[in-house]
Amino acid sequence: MKTTAAITGVGAYVPDYVLTNLELEKLVDTTDAWITSRTGIKERRILKGENQGTSVMGAKAVQQLLAKTNTNPDDVELLICATTTPDLLFPATANIISNAVGLKKAFSFDMNAACSTFLFALVTGAQYIQAGTHKKVIVVGADKMSAIVDYTDRANCILFGDGAAAVLLEPSTDGFGILDQVLRTDGSGEAYLHQKAGGSRRPPTPETIAAKEHYIYQEGASVFKFAVTNMADVAAQVMERNHLSKEDVAWLVPHQANKRIIDATANRMGVGAEKVMLNIDRYGNTTNATIPLCLADYEPQLKRGDNLILAAFGGGFTWGSVYLKWAY
Ligand code: UT7
Repeated sequence: MKTTAAITGVGAYVPDYVLTNLELEKLVDTTDAWITSRTGIKERRILKGENQGTSVMGAKAVQQLLAKTNTNPDDVELLICATTTPDLLFPATANIISNAVGLKKAFSFDMNAACSTFLFALVTGAQYIQAGTHKKVIVVGADKMSAIVDYTDRANCILFGDGAAAVLLEPSTDGFGILDQVLRTDGSGEAYLHQKAGGSRRPPTPETIAAKEHYIYQEGASVFKFAVTNMADVAAQVMERNHLSKEDVAWLVPHQANKRIIDATANRMGVGAEKVMLNIDRYGNTTNATIPLCLADYEPQLKRGDNLILAAFGGGFTWGSVYLKWAY
């Protein structure tokens, strides 16, 4: 049988500080009732403290993963960090994480496709395993969204949180792991969701800071429409082309951006709410940590052979869906 890339462990980390809807009511003109009914979010975690970047959370998630899977850091050959909020523009946050957890023999790099990066990175990592050139690959999704959230912007500050989670990929010859994927990009989506300054097009200046151009800019209602259609489309497409009925699907693992987008995707797939992984109420949108954080939360309920459909949508626009068979 051909070699596939199986997830053989999950590690996760969320910071201690809990930012509740009630606290947000004191910062901006909003209510717990509005946030809950429009998004499904009740609270999110925030990484506090000076000089604390995304890598701090990513390293803790990877450390837990190494301990849980009894993996010697010297055996890890590649670490990919999926992040939209790197510690620095360079070097890569993946390099900082690798150094922090003692990976001496791995190469590492970041990927950025906004909220879909974890899926894109998972598929990229899987290619190295499937090619037979690598045996242990770590993919970590980590984001400190609070670094780019404007806490005076009520439409956006309610949505995002900080967190990290990581998976280990290893070869399987029994048909477990990542079996298929549909990944898509439409660059015309830039207009609706982006950060205006801080990159090479508009480096930071006193003017960009005064104009609040270093924060997330999002036209929420437009993004919502694209997300609902596209995430549901690719999830349904992956099911169809793998001849999976709704009964065959054990779990939908959706990006946690808005509970209404998740419900629409599940409806389209015909999958009941009891099969949908959900933790948006506790963490909000942690960008690239949402999907692996779900896997970590639901790990005790997962069984070897379960069919999982992962689905994400994000800035770019980027979106995609992955079909994987759980290996343990
Ligand atoms: O992961 C990356 C991809 N991003 C997403 O998937 C996010 C997609 N978008 C969404 O989830 C939703 O569009 C939001 C949650 C961001 C907003 O929900 P919405 O139902 O699309 O609301 P809206 O933007 O159309 O605004 C409706 C009303 C507006 O008031 P008016 O103009 O009707 O008077 C907003 O000003 O709700 C108002 N509003 C709020 N009210 C109370 C916006 N934010 C808030 C708030 N509290 N926090």
